[in-house]
Order: sequence, then C-alpha cells, then structure tokens
Amino acid sequence: MPSISSSTQHQTPPAVIIIFGASGDLTRRKLIPALHSLACEDRLSQATRVIGVARTPLTDQAFRDQLYEGVTEYGRHKPALRELWPRFADRFTYLAGSYDDPETYRQLRERLHHFETTLDTHGNRLFYLAIPPVLYPVVVEQLGQAGLNRSDPDWTRLIVEKPFGRDVESSRQLDEHLHRVFREDQVYRIDHYLGKETVQNILSFRFANTIFELMWNRNHVDHVQITMAESVGVEHRAGYYDQAGVVRDMVQNHLFQLLTLTAMEPPVVFNAKALRDEKVKVLQAIRPLHLADGVWGQYRGYREEPDVAPDSRTPTFIALKTYIDNWRWQGVPFYLRSGKRLALKTTEITLQFKRVPHLLFAEAEGLNPNRLSLCIQPNEGMHLYFETKVPGAGMQTSPVDMDFHYDDRFGEHILPDAYERLLLDAIHGDASLFARSDEITRAWELVDSLLEEWEHHHAPPLILYEPGSWGPAEADALMARDGRAWLQSCGGQASA
Ligand code: BG6
Repeated sequence: MPSISSSTQHQTPPAVIIIFGASGDLTRRKLIPALHSLACEDRLSQATRVIGVARTPLTDQAFRDQLYEGVTEYGRHKPALRELWPRFADRFTYLAGSYDDPETYRQLRERLHHFETTLDTHGNRLFYLAIPPVLYPVVVEQLGQAGLNRSDPDWTRLIVEKPFGRDVESSRQLDEHLHRVFREDQVYRIDHYLGKETVQNILSFRFANTIFELMWNRNHVDHVQITMAESVGVEHRAGYYDQAGVVRDMVQNHLFQLLTLTAMEPPVVFNAKALRDEKVKVLQAIRPLHLADGVWGQYRGYREEPDVAPDSRTPTFIALKTYIDNWRWQGVPFYLRSGKRLALKTTEITLQFKRVPHLLFAEAEGLNPNRLSLCIQPNEGMHLYFETKVPGAGMQTSPVDMDFHYDDRFGEHILPDAYERLLLDAIHGDASLFARSDEITRAWELVDSLLEEWEHHHAPPLILYEPGSWGPAEADALMARDGRAWLQSCGGQASA
C-alpha cells in the first residue's frame, strides 16, 4: 500500500524524545514497544535519545528493566530483542521529579543540553504527554517557563493524548493552555485510530482506485454503517470511563475519524492542511444529532464494576442515525454504533449500494443489494458482495463474497502498531494523521448538543443489554424502521 507521505521511507532526523508519564501504562504498553520496532527496522536515527520523566523514583537501570518487560510482552520484534536490547536501552535515561517543580525542568534542560552538544541532535525535541489530562496545563506551563518550547535551531513538538477536554468549553481551555506556550503547528494530537494501517487504507482505497470512487455518493449508495464493537468492558479504567461514557470515549474521536475519512471529498494534495480541511468540512456538514435519533444502552453488570457508581447512568453503547448535508451525501443515512461488552470485537465500515432499478429475472425476487465492507480490525481486509448466477437451470442468483485480507497478501503480523506510524510522523513533522484544533472543536460541538439533550432529559432512555449481545434490541429496531439491518461482514474476535 502506498503510504500517505514519504515520511516512513527514511530514517528519522536525530532528536530527543521526552516522555512525561514514563513509568505509566501507555509508555510500557505502546510507546516503548513502538520505538523498539522502529529501532529494529532501522527507521530511527542512531542519535535518538529518550528521557523518561515521572514522579516515581527509579534508577536508569530500573527504568530500562521496566521497559524490557513491556517490550517482551507487547513488542512486535521479540526475536531481535536479546541482541539489540543493550544498544536500544542505552538510549534511555530517567528523570524523577514533580511535574510542577521548576527544578525538574532545570534538570531536564541540563540533560537536553548534554545530548544536544554531544550528539548533534540540532535541538530537535519531541515532548510526549503520557500523563493524566489534568496535568497537561501544568507541564506545558513549566515547559514554557523553562524556555523548552523554542524551536531552536530546528524544531520542538508536543504530542498530546486524548481526551482533549470533555466538551467544547474544556477543549477550548486546553487549547488556550497549549497555545500560550506552543504554536498550533507544534501540537500533535493523537487519535490512535488514525495510525492504524487500515484506517489510512480508507484513503488509498478511495483515492488510489478509480472504480470505487465513481459510486461513492448519493446516486449509488443506499446507506453507510459504521460499527465499532468491543467485547471487553471498562476493565481497570472505570474511574475515567464512568465520567466519559461511550459518546465522549469513542464517538467524538475515533468514530468521527472513520466517518470523516469515509465521507470526505478528495483533497487537492496530500498534505496535513488539505487533508484536515476536508475532514473539517464533513464535520461541518453532519446534521445536528438528537436524542430521538439514537439508542443508548448500558451492559448489565456495568454498575457492579469496580469504581463505577452503583446508580450510574453512563451509556456504554450507542446507535445513531445521522445525515451529511452536502452535495455528495444528501439523503443517505449514516448509521453509527459503538459499545462495550458486545458479541465481538470488530470495527467495520459498510457501504450498501442501491438495488437494481428493474428486476429482470423472475426467479430473482430476493436479490441482495451489493455491499462493500472495509474491515478495520481485527480481520483487516475488505469484502465485496455481489450476486452471481447459481449454476444449473433458470436464472436464480445467490450472493457471493469477494474478499481481500492483509494477512494473505502481506503476511501475518506485518501490520505495524498505530503508535509506530504516529511517532514516526511526529518526528518527521507530518501532522496529516493528527487531529487539528478546529476538527476537535467541531466534533465536540456535535456531541455537546446531543449530550446536553441526554443530560437534561428528565429520564433519558438508557436500555440495559446483555453482555455478549449486539446491544439493545431497539438498536435493531432503529434500522428496521427504515427497512434495513445492521450487517456484520468482517468476522471479528470473540474476546479481544
Ligand atoms: C480508546 C478508548 O481510545 O480506544 C477505549 O478510550 C477503547 O475505551 C479503545 O477500548 C479502543 O481502541 P482499539 O485500538 O483497541 O480499538
């Protein structure tokens, strides 16, 4: 698959990566395994150095031991681990300190100075906030006060993890904090879905082929459905999740990313600005979402999960119907659903095409409409369904599935983790796969008005559903009212 940019083809420029929250879960499970894979594939400059910052007192060696465990458990390149590890681990140092103490930043500046003078990293710095969002303002302010935000002589960038606020207001406040210290073009907001190969492939599929794009509009598409189903529950994150719920956790970010990539117009060129401009236009065209257009659910047993309020009304499932009011999509419903503790883990996008205009064959009463499914995960691939003649007498037809799987074509385990791509792009300065501030604000505006209706309704209809099901039956009814049904085309995984 051709990559969006050429950034993945070359080794990165030398840089120092500074991870705040270095002793945390994200660092261990995602960031270090991603850096390790990049190092194994020789895509990181030899001069890359990583400074881990966190409150827990740790020696460099103890920090490296923690990282080793993380890479052993979550890394993609285990066989190379033993030979490469010492050279890889030597690039890591640890700095223990409080996030609000200027002394931490003074020491950080000293270490940076040391690397920059001994390794010729040109002052290239990538700060990564792998810390709880309440700490973002304080760290960013301290970085500013220590003068660590300057791009001198080359660049300084800041990666921020979601959630970017919990509504328009708080996300604007966060932007204000960030923009007091960093320019917007220095800020890289991660939505890890954009780092998934198959999500990027929506763009290749649409814009590197002629045949599909011709039909990708209201003249041929009957409706679009996007399913983001998880079989897991809230696990150990209920403290956060119970305050967020499915709309803030999945719809405002990941689901809207899939929707915008599916619905957007072709950008004129492939760069961060053009791509993100087109995505914002889609968000601007989404018809305001209303309570009546959705089905809200909570899985049975959610209230018994640790850290969940016993009377919690937090939705863990939502199904929504919406429209995109623009020339291409006028009148085409988009059905969206996401939930936890559903039957399978599967993320898929299906375009169902219109029925044939005239039934030619008497026997073909039950002709199935064509459909195309993009399987984002876990069975990454594509399915195209069409009717074919059943051999033998008459003109009876039957639907067949023409499919493509990444594994079959490119080999198993070939798909890099989303963080590999995103870290690489951030070091190369390609922001195409990161969310821009106006994109986030518009997404919040859409969900804010929906959540406002939900929160101010005297008894918002929250339906309990069985774990392992496909959510409330009312979600099926939402489709059935329009003579349609949820489709499950990509297989999926029972427990992932
Ligand atoms: C996160 C959400 O952003 O995405 C989680 O906070 C969710 O609740 C996760 O489980 C899903 O990501 P993936 O990559 O496993 O589909």
